[in-house]
Amino acid sequence: MTTVVQVSNPKGYRGLYRFHKYWGKKPFEPIAFIIESLTDQDEVVLDPFVGSGIAAREAARIGRRFIGIDLNPIAVQLSKFLVSPPTVDVVREGLEEIKKQVREDIEASYTRIDENMVAMDYLWDTKVDRRLVATHYLWDNGTLREIWRAKRGSKRKVYEPTNHDISQFKKYENYQPRHIRLPKFFDNSRINTSTDLHLNDLFTGRALRNIDLLIEAIRALPLSVQPVFELCLTASIGQMSNMVFAITGRGKTEGKEPEKIEVGSWVIGYWRPELHFEINVWSRFCIRTKRLIKALEKSPFSLPSHQLTDDPIQVLHDNARVAIVHADAFATLNQFDTNCIDLILTDPPHGDRVPYLELSEMWNAILCNNVDFEQEIVVSNAADRRKGLNQYSTDMNKFLNIAADLLKKGGFLVILFNAGKSEDWQYLHSFTHQESSKSSLEYLGHFPVPYSARSVVQDSRQGSLKDDFAMVFRKPGADDTTSDRVRNLQSLDGWSNTFPTGKGE
Ligand SMILES: C[S@@+](CC[C@H](N)C(=O)[O-])C[C@H]1O[C@@H](n2cnc3c(N)ncnc32)[C@H](O)[C@@H]1O
Repeated sequence: MTTVVQVSNPKGYRGLYRFHKYWGKKPFEPIAFIIESLTDQDEVVLDPFVGSGIAAREAARIGRRFIGIDLNPIAVQLSKFLVSPPTVDVVREGLEEIKKQVREDIEASYTRIDENMVAMDYLWDTKVDRRLVATHYLWDNGTLREIWRAKRGSKRKVYEPTNHDISQFKKYENYQPRHIRLPKFFDNSRINTSTDLHLNDLFTGRALRNIDLLIEAIRALPLSVQPVFELCLTASIGQMSNMVFAITGRGKTEGKEPEKIEVGSWVIGYWRPELHFEINVWSRFCIRTKRLIKALEKSPFSLPSHQLTDDPIQVLHDNARVAIVHADAFATLNQFDTNCIDLILTDPPHGDRVPYLELSEMWNAILCNNVDFEQEIVVSNAADRRKGLNQYSTDMNKFLNIAADLLKKGGFLVILFNAGKSEDWQYLHSFTHQESSKSSLEYLGHFPVPYSARSVVQDSRQGSLKDDFAMVFRKPGADDTTSDRVRNLQSLDGWSNTFPTGKGE
């Protein structure tokens, strides 16, 4: 059983939960604690906005049936992966196969043949692996400034670019991807996108050509293993793009060492810094896949694949343990009978905090996934999308009412939520404060859910939100045995039976 201390001090995203970025991930400790406290073995947990699938894995791991729904194809693929990841051997063999197919070809595009190279340099590298393959290119506003060969555990070698390096780059300058679909971007200055933003603005032609080669090699693998390598690719795609900024300005003070440049990372949105890196596509893919192998070694749980389905009714009828459904939540929930779910635990869209589909567009374009922007529940700054607060509040209110119908008597609804603007809280506030005669759910209270310390994609700007709240509701039951289940939650630090203060009042 997860402890109270673990809930208040989550460790952060490690292992499998760190493998792939997704926005708004919640730490697994509170998720596990809520599920363990509010349900018994084999009971059914529903998350209609499942995101990256942490709740799906935790529920399956601790023996609950689970239904997860999401509109975003990449979220669905990630969730399925987390519930039933392949074995370490499958990933190792797949990586070897991909390596055989494309490593040499990809690395040839980063190979340096430099007539002016100091003989010792060449020897040094010849001894190591017979080639001199660059790992990083530092670009400054369109000019190639430095070339690096960096290896873990040894000092990086830095080279001046030569004509050969420039011609290597130019060879692919106008490369048009063959396996990646055109991304759909909106005018949204908040995430640095515009309708005329192209893949070639985000990646060098060389990177696109090498990503194409990786996609071809992945498609040549057996169908069952392709999804995990697609995720290894999307997980590393940010670091393959022109969005990897360079960290500068260290040691600038007079008399100190000269400026040292470090590799930053792609963090959020589509910001294209003038000073940025272009990183070797093979090395990024390989490092990410090896990290996954390590994570799988440490976290061996995997639901047998025949117990994972995309039909939620199979889970309700106990013919499968977990369903991950790619659909609009309402379209799916409409198929359910009333009183069929024991716990609805969800982290729904939080107003305008994260435009998930717009931010995931790079991943979905790489995998040629179709995306239904129309159905997304979100408040977006992209005017063209016409996704405003009114529609958001109506949709969320509709969801709360459906949730009340779907819960069994004595069942629980836990909503993880926070938003900076009080109007984004309004739907929750009105639902919670309905007169009890009209409301079919009783509000029990809330507790804080801290973000994990090492969350790379939580908003860490000054003034940004630091916690979410877990708000707990119960459908009144025939008897009151379920109130025992709440006691665990009531023992948590920060538990309060009030509505979170200052919001929506
Ligand atoms: C706050 S996120 C969930 C994050 C999740 N807790 C995690 O740990 O990754 C909300 C999710 O709702 C999904 N979503 C938005 N509109 C939806 C709809 N109409 N139907 C289903 N899912 C939707 C988004 O794609 C997004 O993944």
